[in-house]
Amino acid sequence: MPPAPRLPRLAQTAGFMFGGARFLDAVQRRYGDVVTLHTLFDDTFVMIFDPALVKQVFQGPGERLRAGEANALLGPIVGERSVLLLDGAEHLRHRRLMLPAFHGQRMLAHAETMRASADAEIDAWPVREPFALLPSMQALTLRVILRAVFGYTPGPAEDELRRRMRAMIEPLSHRRGLVMIAAVIRGRGNTRAARAFTARRRAVQELLEAEIARRRSDPDLPRHDDVFSALLLARDEAGDGLSDAEVRDELMTLLLAGHETTATGLAWTFDLLLHDARVVGRAADGDDRYLDAVVKESLRRRPVIAGVGRVVRGAPFPIGRYEVPVGIEINPAIRTIHRRADLYPEPGRFLPERFLGADPPDTYAWIPFGGGARRCLGASFALMEMRVVLARVLERCALRAVDRKPTTAQFRTITLAPKSGVRVIQDRPPAAA
Ligand code: HEM
Repeated sequence: MPPAPRLPRLAQTAGFMFGGARFLDAVQRRYGDVVTLHTLFDDTFVMIFDPALVKQVFQGPGERLRAGEANALLGPIVGERSVLLLDGAEHLRHRRLMLPAFHGQRMLAHAETMRASADAEIDAWPVREPFALLPSMQALTLRVILRAVFGYTPGPAEDELRRRMRAMIEPLSHRRGLVMIAAVIRGRGNTRAARAFTARRRAVQELLEAEIARRRSDPDLPRHDDVFSALLLARDEAGDGLSDAEVRDELMTLLLAGHETTATGLAWTFDLLLHDARVVGRAADGDDRYLDAVVKESLRRRPVIAGVGRVVRGAPFPIGRYEVPVGIEINPAIRTIHRRADLYPEPGRFLPERFLGADPPDTYAWIPFGGGARRCLGASFALMEMRVVLARVLERCALRAVDRKPTTAQFRTITLAPKSGVRVIQDRPPAAA
C-alpha cells in the first residue's frame, strides 16, 4: 500500500472538511504522489497527485478501474441505467450511443441558444443594486439544458418541467444534500427528506416518460437537433437503441451533470475575472482564444469537481512503486494537481496566458473534466457555453465585484461552489441586446 499519514481517521476527516485545499497540499508535500487516506466517509482510499500516474489510471482498463462503482452515490438521483453508474461493456455501449449527440458540429447549433439564455438573464439583472451571480447562472444553464439538451421551446410544458427539476435539484445543492442521498442509498428512505426527494424525482421522471412516448411516435423526430432526440434515434452496431428507461436515466444524468456544474464554473469565472483588472481588460477585447483561455484557467484555479474516482476490481492495480488492492478507490486529486507549482508556476495567480503559449498544460495536468474513457461527455458543450456567456456579459455589461477579495470554496454535495454566491453590481443598465 502507498504511505499513509499517521493521523487518526477523525483528524483526516476534519482535514478534508475544514482544511480546504491546504490539507491535501500538505499531504502531498509530506508523503509524495501516491498516498493512502482514511476518513469517516471512505474507510481507505488512495489519492494520486502526479499527472504521469493520473495517465495510468485514466488509460487503465474500464473493467478493472470502475468509475461507475465510484459514482454509486449518484444512483438515487440519476437512476441505475445512467452512463455515470455503468462500467465495462455496458458503459461503453451507452457512451457510444451518446457521443454523436455531443459532436462538434452539433454543438455549434447550440451557441445561439446559449447567447439568448445569457441575454434573458442579463435583461433581468438589477442596476446599482448588488446581486448574486450564482443563482442567475443556475437559471441560465438550466434554460440551456432545457432548450439545447431536452429540446423544449418556451411555453407551459417547459415551465412545468423546469419547476419540477428545480424542486428536485434545489435541496441537493445544500451542504446537507449528501447526507440525504446517503440515507436513500442505505435504504433509510423513510426519513422525511428522503421521501420528499423520491417523490420529486418521480415527478420529473413522469414528465420525461410522457415526453419519450410522445417523441417516439413523432414522425418529425429526425429533424430535431437536440440531445434528447439524438438519444432516441441512436443505434449501436447491432441496430439496437436505448430503451425508454435508459433514455430517461440519461436525461436525468445530463441534467444533473450539466446544470449545476456549468453554473458553478461560470460563477467562479466571473469571481476570478472581476477581481483581476488586467485580465478583464484583455478579455473585454472579445478575442475568442483569450476567452477560451480565461475559462480554462478558471477551471484550473477553481475546479468545480474536486476529485474523481475509480474502484479497483479483478486484481491489484500497480501504481508507481505500489499496488492498490481490489476494492479500494483511486482518486486523482484534481484540485491539488492544479495547484502544483512545478506544473503551474505561481499557481495562486489567475493567468489565462498559461493556456496560450507554445507549451500549454499537459492533458493529464489539467483535468477539470476527468479523463480517459470516462472523460466528461459534455466538456466541449460546457466550455462553449462558458465562453459564449462570458463574451455576452462582457459585451453588454460593466459588472464589478462587491466583495474586495475572491470568495472561498464550499462543498455542495457534488460541486465545489463559491460560498458567497459571487456578489456583483452594475452602475449602468446593460447595452441593448
Ligand atoms: C463546467 C462544467 C462541467 C464540469 C466541470 C464537468 C465535470 C465532469 C467530471 C469531472 C466528470 C467525471 C469524469 C471522470 O470520471 O473521469 C464528468 C462526467 C460526465 N459529465 Fe460533465 N462536467 C461539466 C459539464 C457537463 C455538461 C454540460 C454535460 C452534459 C450536458 C456533462 C455530462 C457528463 C456526463 C454524461 C458524464 C459521465 C461520463 C462517463 O461516465 O462516461 N457534463 N463531468
